[in-house]
Amino acid sequence: MDVFEAIKNRRSIRGYKDEPVPEEALSQVLEAARLAPSAANRQEYKFIVVKDEATRKALVPACNNQKFVGEATVVIVGCATNPERKYARVDVAIAMDHMTLAAHALGLGTCWIGAFSEEEVKKLLGIPEEVSVVCLLPLGHPGKARHPQVAQDQRGTVPGRQVGLRVAG
Ligand SMILES: Cc1cc2nc3c(=O)[nH]c(=O)nc-3n(C[C@H](O)[C@H](O)[C@H](O)COP(=O)(O)O)c2cc1C
Repeated sequence: MDVFEAIKNRRSIRGYKDEPVPEEALSQVLEAARLAPSAANRQEYKFIVVKDEATRKALVPACNNQKFVGEATVVIVGCATNPERKYARVDVAIAMDHMTLAAHALGLGTCWIGAFSEEEVKKLLGIPEEVSVVCLLPLGHPGKARHPQVAQDQRGTVPGRQVGLRVAG
């Protein structure tokens, strides 16, 4: 799938089929994270791949009771291993976004999860104190297709000739 097609048609998926993600597809998604750029190519992150059903279900209350987190047959937990370093979280976010696009291109669904209790997720997965959980990504077969975004808001885009103007709001 063309990268622009993936960018245009990817949507957050909040319902998944009870159907395993093929290993080959999972490794392609993880490969997309591995190839993502990072500041000074430091790659100071780890991606925990949760497949075990009991652990996935236990993640639900740690993620503000977002039930679809437990429905997806894989949950990828993005961690910054040196969170005090500048760009540590940016680097994790870039890799996560690569994964959302790769998953979409493979016919799989994802949804960024930023609403979670870091303390609870860390406790559940035995993540060391010094590591920071940046976000989670359920990955699975979409329960139902979603339409592409009709018209993205352009608020964040400033035409080149306007650079230097103050942008209100
Ligand atoms: C950093 C971040 C955190 C997010 N956290 C959540 C979340 O906890 N739960 C959720 O359902 N969606 C979450 N989202 C998804 C956004 O709501 C979604 O991307 C946005 O509404 C645009 O919809 P789309 O992804 O279908 O284009 C998050 C997105 C980002 C980028």
